[in-house]
Amino acid sequence: MRHLIDITELTINELEKLMETAIDIDEHGEKYAHAMEGKILATLFFEPSTRTRLSFEAAFIKMGGNVIGFDNTISSSTAKGESLIDTIKTVSIYADIIAMRHFLEGAAFAAALNSSCPIINAGDGGHCHPTQTLADILTIKRETGRLDNLTIGVCGDLKYGRAVHSLINALSRYKNNKFILISPPELTLTDNYVKQVFDDNGICYERCNSIEEKVNSFDILYMTRIQRERFDDAAMYERLKNSFELNVDMIKNAKPTMRILHPLPRVTEINTNVDNGPHAAYFKQVKNGMLMRMALILDLLKQKDNYYENFNILDTEKKCQNNKCVVNSERNVNNYQKKIEGQNVCAYCEKEF
Ligand code: NCD
Repeated sequence: MRHLIDITELTINELEKLMETAIDIDEHGEKYAHAMEGKILATLFFEPSTRTRLSFEAAFIKMGGNVIGFDNTISSSTAKGESLIDTIKTVSIYADIIAMRHFLEGAAFAAALNSSCPIINAGDGGHCHPTQTLADILTIKRETGRLDNLTIGVCGDLKYGRAVHSLINALSRYKNNKFILISPPELTLTDNYVKQVFDDNGICYERCNSIEEKVNSFDILYMTRIQRERFDDAAMYERLKNSFELNVDMIKNAKPTMRILHPLPRVTEINTNVDNGPHAAYFKQVKNGMLMRMALILDLLKQKDNYYENFNILDTEKKCQNNKCVVNSERNVNNYQKKIEGQNVCAYCEKEF
């Protein structure tokens, strides 16, 4: 079966095809109006969501399908102590496809190993968020006409921001993209991530502390929320929560073609005075997200009989040291490792052992 757990599972060619389908859906929606008739999508959200869950549901309903699911852990059997794996084994009997969000890193991968239908990762803790990246790349493509030769400022919580992790992974595979990483030192990308994604692949990046310093070089400015729910130290969150507040004055030297993206929800990191200006593209991202989720669902259900080749994992005696990893909190999740750029990492959260 084909799942979508991590954006790197899709080749550039597959990303291009998904974008073509999404644009076709936008222009000729009627062609797709019955594509999911008689099918069921389950949305299993163990963490809050507005856009991601509702866009999956709207996407499926627009194609004539039906939706079941839950949007918190209180109303499902998780509250009675049911394991994630048992929930997945059950729901995958009812549904043709599952979109799930969980607070543990690697939860979607653990689910995929135990599911009898395709799993789409709608966010696993601070790890990754591949369908947000689908929304982002279609927006960048539509707004700038390309996905290569871009200077991309990425600002905010780069440590815990899963949307950032997946976006950088995807855009690193296109030619001549350069990243400017803007965050407080406490919330920068981890050394492990920088090594795996930038250093080992010779990707150009620099770090800086302020948006204004580099704003004239950006083609894209990707703003993110400081991820309060991931902090172990509440005082640190309070200290860092207002690190960036983008407003119209700060972008007065930007290229006219520069676009600002944000996965949303925003808290205070973009002043609403930016919303109606020519640079704001974050509400266009919302629409593109739904279109790309429609394209993805169509594709995964078409490929239902294809074997998923990315389960390139090995048993290991080693214990993952990441206390936010699914292997350390959920029952019946076996230890597995895999190799990334020659390093042995946990197969679920991809942290080094
Ligand atoms: C993002 C997420 O959940 O990671 N939101 C989304 O899916 N659109 C970003 C965030 O919550 O800050």
